[in-house]
Amino acid sequence: MRNNSYSAYSMWFQPKQGTAPAWELFPVGDDSHVIKAAEEWTELLGTLWDSKPRVKTGRLILGVYSDVSRITGEDLASPGTEGYSFFPHGDDFIIAGGDGTGVLYGMYRLILMLCEGKSITDYNSSPAYPIRIINHWDNMDGSVERGYAGRSLFFENEDFDYNPSRIRLYARFLASVGINRICINNVNVGKCEAGLLEGEKLEKLVLMANILREYAVRMVLAVAFDSPIIIGGLQSADPLDGEVRAWWKTHVSEIYNKIPDLGGFLVKADSEFRAGPFTYGREQSDGANMFAEILLPYGGYVFWRCFVYNCRQDWRDVTVDRPRAAYDHFMPLDGKFADNVILQIKLGPSDFQPREPVSPLLGAMKKTNQALEVQITQEYTGQQKDLYYLAGQWSEVFNFDTHGNGRIREIKKIVAVAGVSNLGREVTWTGHVLAGANFYAFGRLSWNPELSAQEVAEEWVKLTFGNNPEVTNNVTHMLMCSRKIFEKYTTPLGLGWMVNPGHHYGASPEGYEYDKWGTYHRADLQAIGVDRTARGTGYTKQYTPGAAEVFENLDTCPEELLLYFHRVRYDYRLKSGKTLLQHIYDTHFEGVEDVLAMIDIWDSLKSLIPEEAWQNTADKLHLQLLNSEEWRDVINSYFYRKTGIPDEKGRKIYI
Ligand code: GCU
Repeated sequence: MRNNSYSAYSMWFQPKQGTAPAWELFPVGDDSHVIKAAEEWTELLGTLWDSKPRVKTGRLILGVYSDVSRITGEDLASPGTEGYSFFPHGDDFIIAGGDGTGVLYGMYRLILMLCEGKSITDYNSSPAYPIRIINHWDNMDGSVERGYAGRSLFFENEDFDYNPSRIRLYARFLASVGINRICINNVNVGKCEAGLLEGEKLEKLVLMANILREYAVRMVLAVAFDSPIIIGGLQSADPLDGEVRAWWKTHVSEIYNKIPDLGGFLVKADSEFRAGPFTYGREQSDGANMFAEILLPYGGYVFWRCFVYNCRQDWRDVTVDRPRAAYDHFMPLDGKFADNVILQIKLGPSDFQPREPVSPLLGAMKKTNQALEVQITQEYTGQQKDLYYLAGQWSEVFNFDTHGNGRIREIKKIVAVAGVSNLGREVTWTGHVLAGANFYAFGRLSWNPELSAQEVAEEWVKLTFGNNPEVTNNVTHMLMCSRKIFEKYTTPLGLGWMVNPGHHYGASPEGYEYDKWGTYHRADLQAIGVDRTARGTGYTKQYTPGAAEVFENLDTCPEELLLYFHRVRYDYRLKSGKTLLQHIYDTHFEGVEDVLAMIDIWDSLKSLIPEEAWQNTADKLHLQLLNSEEWRDVINSYFYRKTGIPDEKGRKIYI
């Protein structure tokens, strides 16, 4: 039966049927986040469950572990910063936090577990990474770069669209999955956004930061490296120039005066036409350290992006290989960065393609703090029209064995996980209802990277659509298959790109081939791909020897990444026994069939899923079908026209 009380605005806080838990709330201590936890508990209980508790069974004691110990008379061990434990205690139930934030997180986890219908026993948890941050690519004109869910949550008309209740709802989502920072503006900082550092705009930032703080979320600001020129009227932004440093110092001091818990600055420098230290003949470390030094007295961090590469390449020049860039630029600087610099490294060496290898820079730097950057927004992965559950990709990164530095998730120098937001002002928050799973999964995995993509998907489905096994199994299945399906009908075997330039949706096999962005596949009549082995561009040598060896050899290279690392002939036989070309044809036909199968599954769930959500996803799946058909035909025709080799099964290819 449909649950009619579904609300698209509520993401995973959907109304539940049945009886609410019946504890008497008993907060202890005066920590503001403990008080917030108690308020949130009361409000969520009142709005999520349709029947009110009747019989009180005991107290729900909430507090920092030391305060709780006083009440229970037993010495509790600290669950650590932001950590918590909860457990029954006689008739009572206790949530004890390592600090107030931990109590807030514990309360949300408890309530979400109850919503999921889980039986509640002893549970404890603490975050794997101290910094779990959302990067908004929101502009003050209200647009969102690579945003597919409507206008910005924060801005409109070169100003704030200050909506406290929206910010509160959002902050609840963040805190409920343990996200503790947001950077509210785009890394591509325009003139208007550069002005966030001063005057009236800064005052409005303060209002937002005040709300976020209630939910233990700290604000971070993206700043333009050349702000001293753009808004300060200086002649230079040279990080070693005394006047430039003084300019930043004054601004940083003013901001921290108003937002004392600002998380710091995020900087995209020397990247895609942005100014940076290179503009002044300086090192990346000179730029990052200037900010670090100025932010240090306030406890702020500088998140310094490593997306530094030549975006004005000559396609004729086969010696330059874009994926090498981050490592080549930053690895030699290990040891030169201040302690409050966090180098923010994209998960792969290219740019959030549907499949690419783990960046060799991640974990390679032994003396430098790092953040792993992922895209929650689906720029190259279907733009929230096509279904693509990203948790599998992230989980693969966390579990990647660097062969020497441990698994990525074990590397201590990785102190933060950053996710580019997929949210906007649409009622669903994410455009595609099922894309809500990606936002939820980002929070869950950045807290605990050991969780599996499957268990997180199941949690999200239950929270969103209720606890019906038929729905849970089928929707989880769709989410879990979505990545493979998308890969089948788009760019083959890790090749990447092949998308329409600019907006990046839909097929264009040579869209970037003769362009300046350095994203070539160099297909000819016999073969495709760039040889990135030691014999080729030498990219594989950036990995530790064990990992390099795996990628270096055609036989051991994971097949889904074959065309990332190797130039391969179309008649090369894959492990399946098929030629590369036949594999491409087959997967492209299959991909469309798989989308049709997903539509069938979704249709079969029509009576079990709230109408609004069902319709939203049904509409998106039909868009996905069109997209998959277009990709299939464009890619198959492209390869047929290059090679003249027909499909063994004689299916329709447009010649
Ligand atoms: C990609 C994306 C840009 C973005 C850039 C970045 O290139 O297409 O929109 O600005 O990444 O991460 O900085």
